[in-house]
Amino acid sequence: MIAQSTSLTPLPPPSVFNLPAPKHIAIIMDGNGRWAKQRGLPRVTGHENGAQALRSVTETCCEIGVGCLTVYAFSTENWKRPAAEVSALFGLLEHFLAAELPTLLANNIRLRAIGRLQELPPTALQALERTIERTSTNTGMNLVLAINYSGRAELVDAVRLVCEEVANGHLRPEDFTQEDLQKHLYTKDWPDPDLLIRTSGEMRLSNFLLWQLSYTELYVTPKCWPDFGREDLFEAVRDFHRRQRRFGGV
Ligand code: FPP
Repeated sequence: MIAQSTSLTPLPPPSVFNLPAPKHIAIIMDGNGRWAKQRGLPRVTGHENGAQALRSVTETCCEIGVGCLTVYAFSTENWKRPAAEVSALFGLLEHFLAAELPTLLANNIRLRAIGRLQELPPTALQALERTIERTSTNTGMNLVLAINYSGRAELVDAVRLVCEEVANGHLRPEDFTQEDLQKHLYTKDWPDPDLLIRTSGEMRLSNFLLWQLSYTELYVTPKCWPDFGREDLFEAVRDFHRRQRRFGGV
């Protein structure tokens, strides 16, 4: 857990990396349910331990100089889960936001959120907006929670805004470029992720950041999310440092 009310050292530990950390890390925090099942525990306990892992990984990312950490907390498809699990997840979100505010402030972390946020339960939305507001002048790492998010929904929302620009005469279809779409994405304020980490071994994107992951390096570990800790993050970053990124060039 991130120590309350203490500042983290914003320097990469020299013994860990010779190279700078990725500017933006995205994470699909998968496997909470399996982690719980393997232990004969309720799924919700898996999510609670997943929240602990998020605290630890946020702390470590901040410590090694990551500029932006985006985590997939709830997808637009997750509403299909049993109502009790959905309710527990939003309760956990509210608890997380309240418990972590002092740490976010002490460590200059700015909380952001992406997704169709207006559809969240009202108390969760209020807690989210309050924490976003309270951290809005922080200038360190961005912690971006993807909540009621999917890449397809984001693209649909962006295209709607482009259509409005065309309809009101501000954009001609023949002038439309990638940048015209990109400026309407939820993520318009941040660079695309350099590294995507997915836990629990599944080899898919699950509708996460479909546009933004075009040239992102992928790292999949069999570990379930609640077991993913500091050393696992270091290993993912070391693996990232071994990659040769060509962005379609030679
Ligand atoms: C995927 O595991 C995880 C989720 C759908 C929710 C992620 C939520 C957390 C990590 C809790 C903490 C987050 C916040 C923001 C407080 P799964 O349930 O799909 O696992 P399974 O595939 O093994 O069933």
